[in-house]
Amino acid sequence: TYVVTENCIKCKFMDCVEVCPVDCFYEGENMLVIHPDECIDCGVCEPECPAEAILPDTEDGVEKMLEVNREYAEKWPNITQKGEEPADAEEFNGKEGKFEEFFS
Ligand code: SF4
Ligand code: F3S
Repeated sequence: TYVVTENCIKCKFMDCVEVCPVDCFYEGENMLVIHPDECIDCGVCEPECPAEAILPDTEDGVEKMLEVNREYAEKWPNITQKGEEPADAEEFNGKEGKFEEFFS
């Protein structure tokens, strides 16, 4: 599966949802997650993210975020169309500590 990682938080560009062939993205207030059991590993979303927030689960260090994706994909609503990104999205691109600061 692919995983939405920390840099999505407060960036939430949503280009990823437009290309997913199985519509497996779910939307929280500050970020999206991928349902790990629905993702077919096609990889097309990875290069679409301007924040480079999508990684395969074979990448080192994504374990925590994989569990976050799994948990919240069951709680948040499905999203299939790109909405308007936050006005300050670029300011948060690459910022450290976003998980601790904004994830609830
Ligand atoms: Fe969707 Fe493919 Fe990305 Fe998985 S890897 S979330 S199936 S676009
Ligand atoms: Fe997030 Fe990148 Fe999608 S910032 S919403 S994973 S395009």
